[in-house]
Amino acid sequence: MPKIRLILIIAAAALSSAGAVSAHAAGPVKAPFGRVGDETVDAYTLRNRHGIEAKIVTWGATLVSLTVPDRHGKLANVVLGFDSIDPYLKGVPYFGATVGRYANRIAHGRFTLDGKTYQLPQNDGPNSLHGGTKGFDKRLWTAEPQAGEAVRLTYVSANDEEGYPGALTAHVTYRLGDDDTLSIEFQATTTAPTPVNLANHAYFNLTGDFTRPILDHVLRVDAGRFTPVDATLIPTGELRAVAGTPFDFRKAERIASRIEDKDEQLARGHGYDHNWVLDKPSPGAMSLAAVLSDPASGRTMEVRTTQPGLQFYSGNFLDGKPAGAGTVFQHRTGLCLETQHFPDSPNQPAFPSTILRPGETYSEKTVLTFKTSK
Ligand code: GLA
Repeated sequence: MPKIRLILIIAAAALSSAGAVSAHAAGPVKAPFGRVGDETVDAYTLRNRHGIEAKIVTWGATLVSLTVPDRHGKLANVVLGFDSIDPYLKGVPYFGATVGRYANRIAHGRFTLDGKTYQLPQNDGPNSLHGGTKGFDKRLWTAEPQAGEAVRLTYVSANDEEGYPGALTAHVTYRLGDDDTLSIEFQATTTAPTPVNLANHAYFNLTGDFTRPILDHVLRVDAGRFTPVDATLIPTGELRAVAGTPFDFRKAERIASRIEDKDEQLARGHGYDHNWVLDKPSPGAMSLAAVLSDPASGRTMEVRTTQPGLQFYSGNFLDGKPAGAGTVFQHRTGLCLETQHFPDSPNQPAFPSTILRPGETYSEKTVLTFKTSK
């Protein structure tokens, strides 16, 4: 690239980010994040008046960083991610991504809908996980800035992509509020009946220090039941009471306190990797699902959602790979609170339905609220 053009681009980028700093309501700041083949991956940075910043990229509609203050006002990124596209392209375990068309597992990658059986890629042992071999996390989305600190991303998944029926138009809108909320809203429509389950797959570490495990985080989950799993992490169909088990987080508990208990379910998940059945005032109501806090930094995150389930995954499969420039994410240095429908719902008639039909609009919302404790 000619030098003069490069200088102009740098000057323009500096001006636009300086503008965002002085006037927080300037709207999302767009910058290039990298390239995938011939296409540019863009980053959109949202910023609120307390300095909270969320950076979203068009590859996988991924939240690559989320910077929030601790009890002394010190800002740090609390989601695992990278600042360049390369590690994402090498294969990252869904860091911050929007997962779909069906987040979580479908047994044997197979389901029957309106009398027809569909076969999906089996990319997780015998099962299909997070939309198959090339799910929504590995697709380039388009983005449109919205009024305020918000960006809306769109991906059109073709009929039969990864074996799913119907062309699905999916939207995810990230919106950062001055009330220190990051809301993530999902919408979808389809041309043929299809299962849909969209979720954000951010890994949180509220210490802001990714060399530290999340084991000292304290978690509350407003759920009286969870869905126990078989050896391949498919729900058995039972909704089991959490009372008297290591899955009881109705009162806030340190994650470490029971994670090594001798328990068949913990053994199957290699720790926590299960779906909780959220206690809801009514199906689809927006309600508090979980509260995560880090006593050391005072950072606290409340999770509210319209979704019926919460997959709490304690980062059991993190193993230091892939490594970005200087960043290595080891065992249990991040945890996911994936608000979503229950795993394997297309094969479990007793679970809330995940089938979307033409003419209907899929609509779900999750709101993360950041606070600090003394
Ligand atoms: C989900 C699954 C986990 C694991 C991660 C990605 O949360 O439930 O078992 O596959 O994604 O590594």
